[in-house]
Amino acid sequence: MTTESNTERRVLVEPTAAEATEVAAELFKTAVCDSVGERGKCRLALAGGTTPHALYQLLAEQWPAAEVPWPDVEVFFGDERNVPQDDIESNYGMAQRTLLDHVPVPPHQIHPMSADAEDLDAAAADYEQMIRHIVPAGSDGIPKFDLVLLGMGGDGHTASLFPDTEALHERSRLVVSHFVQVLGRHRMTVTFPLINAGRNVILMVTGDDKAEAVAALLGDDPQRKKRFPAAAVQPAEGKLFLVLDADAARLTDLYP
Ligand code: 6PG
Repeated sequence: MTTESNTERRVLVEPTAAEATEVAAELFKTAVCDSVGERGKCRLALAGGTTPHALYQLLAEQWPAAEVPWPDVEVFFGDERNVPQDDIESNYGMAQRTLLDHVPVPPHQIHPMSADAEDLDAAAADYEQMIRHIVPAGSDGIPKFDLVLLGMGGDGHTASLFPDTEALHERSRLVVSHFVQVLGRHRMTVTFPLINAGRNVILMVTGDDKAEAVAALLGDDPQRKKRFPAAAVQPAEGKLFLVLDADAARLTDLYP
């Protein structure tokens, strides 16, 4: 267990991506079960991209043997591409195909982002208001997700918080839509105040192409960390689980 800026952080390194996925699945299920046990509900935000595919498929395969209280789960998303929900690029569509079509989360408890709306700023504000309406806030007035699942790009972006974007510095809005220059596309994303209010944050990173960003995250050079947005994932009161495979950890001293 290592701590950084009061964040309770656990770093778990597994030999392969498949084993890292199994560890992430156990952490995911524990967070859901504990949240429902303690508060009657689990409000969570799912990640997009490709890393979570195997995790979502494993969680779906483990149902119903694994007694996950899916009917008590409210599903939100950490970010979304500006495509229709049935587009192959949609994070919602990916989560639906790999997990949500296979577990009994009531449809009205699944909340996709409208990241292809005409007015993206209004859509982001609406999403934030919905989160504020459904997810109970902590003493700071910020909704506290029971679980936030995140991935990370090789440039250290997480959710759709990319390097050199104003969204990194957003401290009042909890959800924003912004044009991401490096992609040439708009994205909708949660911001760090919402991520860092989470009770449990699982940052799952696998693959050799993430090794430099992971080494920066785990290193102690503050200037180097600043280049990688995921370094700002530091839950104020929650737990951070960094789940890695050996390839992603190869430039750290954690590499077996
Ligand atoms: C997205 C994700 C994004 C993702 C990283 C890592 O919309 O792409 O939300 O933040 O987690 O880009 O992507 P991979 O898992 O595909 O490497």
